[in-house]
Amino acid sequence: MALQKTRLFTHPGHRESALPENVQKLERVNPLVNATSLAFLMFEKPDLVATQKFLTDFGMQTVSSTDDKLVMRGSGSAPCIYVAYRGTSSRYLGAAFNVASKHDLMLLESQANARRLPADAIPGGGLGVELIDPAGNLLWLITETKPILPIALRTPTHLLTNGPDMIQRINATVRPPLEAAAINKLGHVVLQTVDFPGMTRWYMRHLGIIPSDVQYLPDGSPNLCFFRLNLGTAPADHHALVIVGGLEEKYEHSAYEVVDLDALGLGHNILRANGHRHMWGIGRHIQGSQLFDYWFDPDGMEFEHYTDGDVFTADYEPNYTPLNLSGIWAWGDDVPKSMGPQKNVSTLLTIIKLLFKKKISLKRLKLLDQAMSTPARPWL
Ligand SMILES: [Fe+2]
Repeated sequence: MALQKTRLFTHPGHRESALPENVQKLERVNPLVNATSLAFLMFEKPDLVATQKFLTDFGMQTVSSTDDKLVMRGSGSAPCIYVAYRGTSSRYLGAAFNVASKHDLMLLESQANARRLPADAIPGGGLGVELIDPAGNLLWLITETKPILPIALRTPTHLLTNGPDMIQRINATVRPPLEAAAINKLGHVVLQTVDFPGMTRWYMRHLGIIPSDVQYLPDGSPNLCFFRLNLGTAPADHHALVIVGGLEEKYEHSAYEVVDLDALGLGHNILRANGHRHMWGIGRHIQGSQLFDYWFDPDGMEFEHYTDGDVFTADYEPNYTPLNLSGIWAWGDDVPKSMGPQKNVSTLLTIIKLLFKKKISLKRLKLLDQAMSTPARPWL
């Protein structure tokens, strides 16, 4: 059957300055501080040994491991990118971002009721304060953490890529070593929330983040935002934090940068050979453009390898597209069913609870269902 051209369609999007009448602009909030980088994520984990094994195969390096606490780093200069505290469950505790100075911490204490962290609380040292977001996740703002000596990454293979009219490699082969994909840095974390407007306002206020890409429901209301840090004229990753409206307060995934596509592929083989569970990939995202590969940790939490992401300066205008599953990747395997709406008893119970507590309206439920039920690949 011939493909119908009209169905082979990826929405081009709208610049924020030229939104159609029915699409609402994401409301902005004046920030208290501008975070300068995403430092590390914090988790509770029931089995630190299994967690450490997964993260090592995933490409992180152990900084310290005790019966109660696991600290991991990447190859970059950050002294820590992942911390797990031993507990009874597997859950996301929160994120730590760097801010420029002690002055920012004082501002957060006086204007946002932030609590000063004990001196030994921050892996890698430094000073910090703690806030709790509207969903109950921790947000640490830290400063004066001393960088550590980076571990050199191998030379990226794409520097010597051959192509039409572009011969860069003569009498030489591409043989990168079969090894875990060394993590350069922590790139982003994605959170689902029932209260999209409330969570986005809160994080814009306390991190100074700005929208790169916004996705909206069929009524034009924003429901997903890829936020980047405001680094002024310096380029920032397309997103350091993503917030998506849904039926739960939930960690979706976190993502870690590797050196190139070969690291993504070879790292995939290492994870597979060590019995870890693959989730999705390899493919290329649309928003952020990253090449990606998603894995489950031993407790079923999602971790993403990525490379070749977009970077924008602060003045780059946000783009708006309709929210649907087809919008999140350009090529690669189909998006797993687990990322779509789960129409089962557990979801039904969640919906009943949300309706009973008046946390969601029937209208919004219908809009969410309409957006997420659109076939991800209508031409297949
Ligand atoms: Fe991601």
